[in-house]
Amino acid sequence: MRRKEIGNKVLLAVTGGVAAYKSLEILRLLVKKGINVKVVITRGGERFVTPFSFLSLGAEEVYTDNDQFSIINGSSIHLALSRWSDLIAVVPATADFIAKVASGISDSLLLTTLLASKKPVIVAPSMNENMLLHPATQRNIEILKGFGYKIIEPDEGFLADLAKGKGRLKDPEDIFEEILVELTPKKLKGLKVLVTCGATREYIDPVRFITNGSSGKMGIAFAKVARRFGADVTLIAAHTTEKLPMGMKILRVDKTEELFEVVTDEVKKCDLLIMAAAPSDYRPEEMLHNKLPKLPELTIKLVSTVDVLKEASKYKDNKIFVGFALQTNNIIENAKKKLEEKNLDYVLGNSIENIGSDLGKVILMDRFGNISEFEGDKESIAEFVLSKIFKF
Ligand SMILES: Cc1cc2nc3c(=O)[nH]c(=O)nc-3n(C[C@H](O)[C@H](O)[C@H](O)COP(=O)(O)O)c2cc1C
Repeated sequence: MRRKEIGNKVLLAVTGGVAAYKSLEILRLLVKKGINVKVVITRGGERFVTPFSFLSLGAEEVYTDNDQFSIINGSSIHLALSRWSDLIAVVPATADFIAKVASGISDSLLLTTLLASKKPVIVAPSMNENMLLHPATQRNIEILKGFGYKIIEPDEGFLADLAKGKGRLKDPEDIFEEILVELTPKKLKGLKVLVTCGATREYIDPVRFITNGSSGKMGIAFAKVARRFGADVTLIAAHTTEKLPMGMKILRVDKTEELFEVVTDEVKKCDLLIMAAAPSDYRPEEMLHNKLPKLPELTIKLVSTVDVLKEASKYKDNKIFVGFALQTNNIIENAKKKLEEKNLDYVLGNSIENIGSDLGKVILMDRFGNISEFEGDKESIAEFVLSKIFKF
């Protein structure tokens, strides 16, 4: 097993594939997250992207094979770089690079650095489908897995020549997420976390429905952050236009009744429930099976939907339940009321400005009425809440 290190220094390595331009997006995401990034570009890589592009997007340093025989602070550059980094991410990785690493060849700055490193390595292959499926490449990928390197399997999709096939680099956001997973200490290992997100729909007729403005961003942020800390996450997703995260069990739901059924099923297996979904509180008493024609006026009788949290609390035992209280006014009073009524351990009070936004301002109240405030992006809110609950 390779030694796992934690930190925020990433060596981003770029090899000579057409997807090399996507590594610029990964650099941007890393820099935005406050991670220090140095870049190594192979000779092949330099044919597709330039060192200047990485420097202008915030890379601390960019090295090419012209730097292979240089000394940094008295150390050979490959040793200095392997010592400096907490993680090496090769994006994209060519068939040629994968074959050379598999054989232990070290005739370039990147290959020498890898051979000299005991840090976690992420490799994201990208190539033409025949190159990927060639037995040599498949064998070499298996060898890299055997070294303990994390391989980010390429997707199916349109390749460089616009032919469809397997070999397309995984989305930069997904690769970025895997880098964060590797860098984050596994403080929630063994914890089963159930998160709900998004807005439910209550149908008037087959095409019209009642819903709310919940984007699903808060629940998705909780699911991602809990996974980064090593939790085993299940995400129950009502309607959201956000991209759903990788590396967890995902269950899609439509109406509040479905959300209730799936939550009731899953809550029995979890240690922590984060109820970030926004179920509709009302539904039409009756759903029409045919589309209503346009009428001069229409009265719809609404009835209450099932109270998902209250019903889930029947299975609470010593599980930790976190609910949300979104209010236009009296946030603290309403949060306290919800905490007591729903038998919650924590409630996050927030205002309507948080709906759909990437940023949020929240108050976290525990069952003793202690309050702490936090403002930041939704992933930082999730980190803040989890660190408060689990005291890390
Ligand atoms: C236009 C063009 C596109 C290429 N795209 C890829 C690719 O997507 N994946 C790959 O494995 N090789 C690709 N190659 C081949 C590599 O560039 C070649 O194997 C090179 O030696 C790789 O060098 P490196 O691994 O040191 O970066 C491409 C070559 C050309 C000319």
